[in-house]
Amino acid sequence: MTRFDQNRRPLVIGIGGTTRAASSTERALGFALRGAEQAGARTRLFGGTFLHSLPHYAPESAQRTPEQTELIEAVRHADALIIATPGYHGGVSGLVKNALDTLEELRADERPYLDGRAVGCIVTAYGWQAAGSVLTSLRSIVHALRGWPTPFGAGINTLETKFESADSCSDQKVVEQLAMVGQQAAQFALAFRSLHSGGALAHEANEASDADQSRPRRILALAN
Ligand SMILES: Cc1cc2nc3c(=O)[nH]c(=O)nc-3n(C[C@H](O)[C@H](O)[C@H](O)COP(=O)(O)O)c2cc1C
Repeated sequence: MTRFDQNRRPLVIGIGGTTRAASSTERALGFALRGAEQAGARTRLFGGTFLHSLPHYAPESAQRTPEQTELIEAVRHADALIIATPGYHGGVSGLVKNALDTLEELRADERPYLDGRAVGCIVTAYGWQAAGSVLTSLRSIVHALRGWPTPFGAGINTLETKFESADSCSDQKVVEQLAMVGQQAAQFALAFRSLHSGGALAHEANEASDADQSRPRRILALAN
C-alpha cells in the first residue's frame, strides 16, 4: 500500500497527448500540470511519445515492458492524476485507452486501480459535441477505475483554441480552466491526505468556526 507521506508534496501524474509533436492535447495537459504545481504538487508527464512506446495491453501475458512497468509504478505512487485525450470518432483515443487498460496491473493493490485518487479530465476535439461527450466517456472510465473525477473537467474545441507552443494558448479562459483542473486535482490530493491522517481531520473540523468551511471535509469523511 502506498500511504500518503505527510512530509512530501503530492505527486500528480499526467497521462495524455497524441503521436503528433505539436499535440494540442499534450500541451493542454501541460497547462493543467502547471496549475497543479502552483497548488503545491510535484508532477510527472507521460505524453504522447511515451504512450506510443507502450505495447497493446495483453492481460494474458505476464511479461511487461520497462515502459509499462514505469507507468504502472508511477500511477501506483501517484496522489492524483490528470488524463488528457483527443476525441477520436466520438470516443477516447486508442493511445490513451491503452495506457488506461495497462492500469489493470493495479487491480490487486491495496489501493486498486485509481482508488482514492482525484483525476482531472481533459478532452480536445474539433467541435463541442465530441468535447462534451468524450469528457463524459473519460469520466465513466475513471469511475470504472475507482478514481474520483474532479468537479471541473475541461472540454476544448481545438477548431477555436490554438496551442501554438507548449506554453502558449490563444484563449486565456481555456488557460484558466486548465489551471483549475490541475489545482483541483492537487487540492483533492491534499484533502485525501488529510482524510487519511485520521485524528487531524476531526481536529481541523472542530477548529473550523464557520460551518460552511467544515462541510467539504465532512462530505469527504462520509464518502470514505
Ligand atoms: C482519427 C481521428 C478521429 C477524430 N475524430 C473526431 C471526432 O469524432 N470528433 C471531433 O470533434 N474531432 C475528431 N478528431 C479531431 C481531434 O479530436 C482534434 O483534432 C484533437 O484536438 C487532436 O488532438 P492533438 O492536437 O493533440 O493531436 C479526430 C481526429 C483524428 C485524427
